[in-house]
Amino acid sequence: MSSREVKRIVILTGAGISAESGIPTFRDKGGIWERYRLEEVATPEAFRKNPDLVHEFYNLRQRELLKVFPNAAHHALAELERKYPGGMLIVTQNVDDLHERAGSKNVIHMHGELLKVRCEKCGHIFRTEGEIFTSTVCPACNQKGGLRPHIVWFGEIPFHLEEIYRVLEICDLFVAIGTSGTVYPAAGFVEIARQAGAWCVELNLKPSAVADLFHEQHYGPATRVVPAFVQELLQSQKRKL
Ligand code: OAD
Repeated sequence: MSSREVKRIVILTGAGISAESGIPTFRDKGGIWERYRLEEVATPEAFRKNPDLVHEFYNLRQRELLKVFPNAAHHALAELERKYPGGMLIVTQNVDDLHERAGSKNVIHMHGELLKVRCEKCGHIFRTEGEIFTSTVCPACNQKGGLRPHIVWFGEIPFHLEEIYRVLEICDLFVAIGTSGTVYPAAGFVEIARQAGAWCVELNLKPSAVADLFHEQHYGPATRVVPAFVQELLQSQKRKL
């Protein structure tokens, strides 16, 4: 990879990058979907049927998020953004804010954000670190019963797809970190980047479901493989200058 001319980088992150911060992944042993039925907490139907349970699930995840911190992998990506002379975008499937807390600026949350709430009555989106209930009043329209987590549920369309596809089609390097490659459309990004001519790298604890589509793979915990990869990339850029 070091001999290639890299200008634009797109980095896709998944739950694995936040695992060592203490946020459980979804599908690994002991993961979130082993402890909760996604049909009961992560679909529009679930919210219509039992909004209190859905609020409780996201309030709990929000409380857990406020207790944890970014790890060396988040910090390494923030360093890459600061020092890399080309363009870099992080597209994250994660709903935590650990990339931002590490200092990354160019981040797209395609599956929403745990610390944001949306009013279905007036469309207002706002940040909150407080718990939300069915009785919570929207600060914009003063109505209650309309607030929902600003999260993309199963059966809903991820946010910012147009922008994501636009950058994938012109990127030179695509790196997927800590994602199982089982949830589309994100699992298909590697194919788009590859077709666009990008060099594709997978960084994960173990091969994902789409591992074969990558040109290069590094396996190990994110706090080890991500900083190592970032240092190698920055060194190779320096050698070219
Ligand atoms: P998954 O739980 O499906 O996969 C986690 C990935 O992280 C696996 O590939 C693990 O091998 C890897 N992993 C675990 N620990 C790691 C570590 N310490 N270092 C590096 N890698 C590690 O999570 P996602 O792929 O992010 O969507 O899941 C995608 C989407 O499915 C989520 O955004 C969420 C979920 O249902 C919605 O809620 C819409």
